[in-house]
Amino acid sequence: MDMAMQPRREIPPMARRRSDGRDDLGFLRAQPAPLVRDRYGVVFTFSHANAMRLLTGGEVRQAGVETMEMQGVTSGPLYDFFKYSLLFSHGARHRARRTPLARSFAYKLMDALRPEMRAMAEALVLPLAGQGEVDFLNRVAAELPARMIARIACVPEADFARFGQMVYSAVRGMTVRSPQVMMRAMRDMGALTEYVEALLQARRNCAGGDFLSEYLDRAAATGLDPAEARMQIVTLIVGGSDTTRLALTALLSRLLERPGQWQALCAAPAALVPGAVREGLRYDPVTGSIAQVAERDFEMDGYPVPAGTIIAPTLVTALRDPAVYAEPDRFDIRRDDHPKLHLAFGAGAHRCLGEALARIEMEETLSVLARHLPHAELAGPPATIWGTGAIREIDGLTIRV
Ligand code: HEM
Repeated sequence: MDMAMQPRREIPPMARRRSDGRDDLGFLRAQPAPLVRDRYGVVFTFSHANAMRLLTGGEVRQAGVETMEMQGVTSGPLYDFFKYSLLFSHGARHRARRTPLARSFAYKLMDALRPEMRAMAEALVLPLAGQGEVDFLNRVAAELPARMIARIACVPEADFARFGQMVYSAVRGMTVRSPQVMMRAMRDMGALTEYVEALLQARRNCAGGDFLSEYLDRAAATGLDPAEARMQIVTLIVGGSDTTRLALTALLSRLLERPGQWQALCAAPAALVPGAVREGLRYDPVTGSIAQVAERDFEMDGYPVPAGTIIAPTLVTALRDPAVYAEPDRFDIRRDDHPKLHLAFGAGAHRCLGEALARIEMEETLSVLARHLPHAELAGPPATIWGTGAIREIDGLTIRV
């Protein structure tokens, strides 16, 4: 039959979630088609190939304020975050916002922070030995990235707790939420933005002040106004905390659930830690999906995607795609089929700026855990990770040491 005569297929609605609510893979794999549409009209697609095509192919652009407006949010601190952050911009505006930051996050600069990071991890991990049951998520995994970001952004130690609380609440506003959670996230995003403004004013008086000062100079040279420059720092803070917290907790949980792999890692940390980090990021991706907007009409897996459609490649499924990973549901720190570019950090123009920092944070912390707490074991259920939106959720992890 002539292609032009074929009936146009409609993208089917998403099947409803089963009552257990947290089995994302089961839920997503049970969808009726490779492209499905949710109640807001957002289209989700699941394969690794479609994710790479969308994020690097030029058919779509990053979603901006659309996803806020879809939820009825049209002003306020969270709306401003979406409007001015590099994360939700595209084209020339995105480049102008990203370029001054990118140089500060170069791998060499981050690698130089390794000894400091190791010391930070040791300061958090060594006191745990012999303490019995320990809340790993809050005692280590939440503290380390918040302290690292606080070090880079000049947050005084006395403010760490308040800072962490604002950040972890503000980040909840990046995904579709209940109105109550959105209200709190909005309030905390406002507080965080004001707090960052005060940090920028005081930056020259702290050890990490160079980073902020150099960034502001570069931002001014590329024509960013001060409010826009400030929002990129807010993005760094928000993007660098919850993500690493979840990834570290999930990784330790998966290892302790498999004592054979944990013992092997403890016996040869230098050889096995980088692979364990790669595998953890694949097995439990932090980012559920990345909303994009179709710039023009195109076809995907035989379905028409009209210009203007919000379409989200889903990393939860892409990173378990059997076309890329052998036995994708097997957690294996020795896996050798990771593509060079790890999709857990996105792809294309918005690929994670903090990738080097995040990997180094995770590697150093895992090495310290392997060296100092090799007898660690689960003291309760393994961590559960769920969510299909921007940043996923984790319930917690208690270990016995
Ligand atoms: C395990 C930890 C992390 C994971 C899995 C992760 C994942 C991601 C992903 C998937 C993106 C792309 C989002 C998109 O295309 O919309 C992204 C962007 C970004 N990440 Fe990360 N991230 C992590 C840690 C960090 C850290 C530590 C920082 C900084 C301190 C950071 C800063 C950023 C920034 C600024 C962007 C925006 C880049 C842009 O829009 O051009 N991330 N991250």
